[in-house]
Amino acid sequence: MTLKLSVVGCGYLGATHAACMSSLGFEVVGVDTDPRKVELLSRGELPFYEPGLDTLLEQEMKTGRLSFTTDFSAVADADVHFICVGTPQSKDGLAADLTYVKASVAAIAPYLKKGSLVVGKSTVPVGTAQALRAELSLSAPDADLAWNPEFLREGFAVEDTLTPNRLVVGVVNDRAEDILKEVYQPIIDLGTPWIRADLPTAELVKVAANSFLATKISFINAMAEVCEAAGGDVTVLAKAIGYDPRIGNRFLQAGIGFGGGCLPKDIRAFMARAEELGAKQALEFLREIDAINLRARQRVIDVVRDELSENLTSYTIAVLGAAFKPDSDDVRDSPALDIAAQLQAAGAKIIVHDPKAIENARLRFPALGFAESVHEAVKGADLILHLTEWREYREIDPSSLEALVKGKIIIDGRNALDRDKWRTAGWKFHALGRSN
Ligand code: UDX
Repeated sequence: MTLKLSVVGCGYLGATHAACMSSLGFEVVGVDTDPRKVELLSRGELPFYEPGLDTLLEQEMKTGRLSFTTDFSAVADADVHFICVGTPQSKDGLAADLTYVKASVAAIAPYLKKGSLVVGKSTVPVGTAQALRAELSLSAPDADLAWNPEFLREGFAVEDTLTPNRLVVGVVNDRAEDILKEVYQPIIDLGTPWIRADLPTAELVKVAANSFLATKISFINAMAEVCEAAGGDVTVLAKAIGYDPRIGNRFLQAGIGFGGGCLPKDIRAFMARAEELGAKQALEFLREIDAINLRARQRVIDVVRDELSENLTSYTIAVLGAAFKPDSDDVRDSPALDIAAQLQAAGAKIIVHDPKAIENARLRFPALGFAESVHEAVKGADLILHLTEWREYREIDPSSLEALVKGKIIIDGRNALDRDKWRTAGWKFHALGRSN
């Protein structure tokens, strides 16, 4: 008999996982405490933007296999329960807030049938899975718990779930591994590497991967700082070192750095946990990774001041991009919005454009100015900041903006625009890490 699945937490990770598991042929019930989210998902509508997930959700809702509810008792039928709730940074420090993970496991515990498996997918501090498993052995002694970290990237969520570059499962016994193999069989059949680990290693894989990615980005941004000081060009440097397959050319895009709901909070939570474990020194370098990342934002502001004036009160700045990265409407810890807000706090008039993230940006920073089109955003601007590398910004014809702006100055915070094109059109063009 085909396994029945439940997915607890229907945010970014959970909604994607639920729709993708349904597309593999499983009956899936998604549970979330937010009635608005459940109502939208039940209508086949996404509460956020993710390319490809909207059509998949619509398609899966029509099969009748996929449903969403706020009622936790709906999980009673399921054999496997995926925990996909958020673990944000806690309000009073660097550590991850585990409230939602703990509450989810507690909420489903009374409904767990004999032999069912709870599978954590949320990013948690190492040691959490073991502690939850011990608690579960008291509240639901017939159930087991495994950890199966998720590596999906926003903008590629469906692709990363259905064709991941590896599957990692943290289990305590063969039975849990067998159940997870049954769930993921179609993905394993594609040749996807399968890694069985113990619970702490599975938890660590996730934060180690994100720490490595953050390190790669901050490394290239540190090189950008040196290039600026030495008269070099970080884009050429990145290309040149990237040809060494041991280094690789991906994630070496210098600019205003990383943001989003994962990398920043994950490296901070990892440091906090290492300290608790008495291994603080091992992760001290992540403090520097965080600092380099935040410094990149400041460097853009410094260039703006160099170009305009120390006192920004009489200037208008157009900001292209609000999302933390393209193909997403997510503005959590967005470097673009942080820069926009800081410039506004310094007195500048800011007009922000983004193809998808305006609504979320407005909720977060209601006092910023917003525009529906690039042309509207740049009207009367003394300077343009390119801060999220949406494709539509790369395709801008610089001469089409000429009559609209007050100053023909653009700063490329993502090293994604064609510098020659802008300069040929008579613009003053700056980019982080490129000194000429
Ligand atoms: C990340 C991990 O990639 C993913 O595996 C994990 O599951 C969740 O966290 P995501 O947050 O979607 O995914 O974004 P990612 O594509 O990793 O980008 C993170 C940030 O780094 C973005 O702000 C992006 O603009 C920035 N970045 C990325 C750079 O500044 N330079 C680069 O070369 C790459």
